[in-house]
Amino acid sequence: MNIITFDSDAKLNEAAANIIVGQIQTIPRAVLGLATGGTPVGIYKEIVRDYERGMVSFRNVTTFNLDEYVNLPIDHPESYHSYMNANLFSHIDLPESQRHIPDGNAADLEAECRRYDEAIELSGQIDLQLLGLGHNGHIGFNEPAHALIKGTHIVELAEKTREANARFFDSIDDVPKQALTMGVGTILKAKKILLVVKGADKADIIREALQGPITTDVPASLLQTHPNLIVLLDSAAAGKLA
Ligand code: GLP
Repeated sequence: MNIITFDSDAKLNEAAANIIVGQIQTIPRAVLGLATGGTPVGIYKEIVRDYERGMVSFRNVTTFNLDEYVNLPIDHPESYHSYMNANLFSHIDLPESQRHIPDGNAADLEAECRRYDEAIELSGQIDLQLLGLGHNGHIGFNEPAHALIKGTHIVELAEKTREANARFFDSIDDVPKQALTMGVGTILKAKKILLVVKGADKADIIREALQGPITTDVPASLLQTHPNLIVLLDSAAAGKLA
C-alpha cells in the first residue's frame, strides 16, 4: 500500500488526475472503474483540463461506474448518470457505447446486476479503479454487513449513507433507499486501486480502513489485501493515522 498525503486540495486532485491520465497514456484501451460523490469532482475537473490541453484521449477507453440509485430517474440531477455527464462525460471524447453505469430503473434489477457483471467480464479486467470512502467505511455502496457480496447487487442504503447524501437532495426523504452497486469481489479484482479520501470527518474511518482489522464491518478494510493500492489523502483525512 502506498499512502501519499497532500497539504492542498489542488495538489491532491492533480496527483489523482495524473495517475488516471497516465494510465490511459500507457494503455489507451484502459478499462477504468469510476466513482461519484463529492470527493472526485475536483479530480474530474483536472482530467477535463488535461483532455482540453490535448494530453489524453478517451476514444478507446471503457468505463464502469461503481453504483447508481434505484428508482431515481436517469435525468434527475442527483442520479449518478447526471453526475457523470455533468462532471466528466459531456466534456471528453469517450464514446457513449463505452460508458457503463448500472441501470437503477431496470424492470428486472437482478437481471441488470448480472448484465453489468457480464459487461465488466467481457471488457477484461478493470485496469484502474477509482474509489472514495463513505463515513461508515463503504466503498461503492457496499455497506457494512456480516457478509459482503462479490458481484453487482441491490443494496439497502445505510441510514448514515442516506444522511450523508441528503446534502445533495431537498430533504433526506428524497434520498433513495436502495442502490445497485458493484460488489467488493469486482472492486478487488481491479489491477490497481486508487482510493481518495478528503476531510477531517473521514480521519477516523480511514484509520480503521487502513490500519484496523480487516472486517466486513468496514468494507474498505478489505482494500488492505490488495497488492496494488494507492491512497491519496488530504492532511485532514490523514490526521489520525498511526
Ligand atoms: C457515495 C458513493 C461512494 C462515495 C461515497 C463518499 O454515496 N456511493 O462511491 O465514495 O459515498 O462520498 P463523498 O466523496 O461525497 O464523501
